[in-house]
Amino acid sequence: MIRSSEPTAATRAVEEATFRTVVSSFPASVAVAAAYGGERVEPHGMTASSFLAVSLRPMLVLISVARSARLHAVLERQERYAVSLLDHRQAALARGFAGAPADRGRDAPEIHWREVSGAPVLEDACAHVVAEIRDRHRAGDHTLFIGEVRAMAPPARSATPLSYQQGRFGRVAADDDRWVGDLDPWGGPPCIVWG
Ligand SMILES: Cc1cc2nc3c(=O)[nH]c(=O)nc-3n(C[C@H](O)[C@H](O)[C@H](O)COP(=O)(O)O)c2cc1C
Repeated sequence: MIRSSEPTAATRAVEEATFRTVVSSFPASVAVAAAYGGERVEPHGMTASSFLAVSLRPMLVLISVARSARLHAVLERQERYAVSLLDHRQAALARGFAGAPADRGRDAPEIHWREVSGAPVLEDACAHVVAEIRDRHRAGDHTLFIGEVRAMAPPARSATPLSYQQGRFGRVAADDDRWVGDLDPWGGPPCIVWG
């Protein structure tokens, strides 16, 4: 889109609403990114769908964190973060770590952390990655925290991770008869892990 002049506040509001609609139509898996807060005592977690694998050699990942998020201030000081991929049954946790009011009564999710390689990982998550921060790139109102993988655990083959699309939680479930192990996003020999 080419603009001849600066957008008005009204035009910008419409464009931002369209942007939100478009980007939320791309299904995303849902994770909790976390790091230890001050003095390494209290883990601070945030629901995040921006987790991305960046490089295989070396193994680099990134998360994009809003500068207004509390985790942002934590990651300015900490050197490591963990990304725990949520299971589809953990939507309440995703809501809680996205700032939604706590669920009440017996539906309130219990939060259990464990330390893995210097970062807090959620117990019962499908999979996790712990990364040591190598680069902090300011990108608009977010910062990309690029980290080198220090620890990781793969999901069970039967795992069905939580997904988010157009304001709804769902689940990521592969079709059993659609194996494409001859294709590999990283190039090189085909992936043997799931074969
Ligand atoms: C499905 C989902 C994915 C999200 N992904 C991100 C993300 O990748 N980066 C981000 O900064 N905020 C993301 N958010 C928003 C934060 O989780 C939310 O603003 C949170 O309240 C920020 O943490 P804080 O309240 O501790 O500051 C996401 C929210 C949802 C519901």
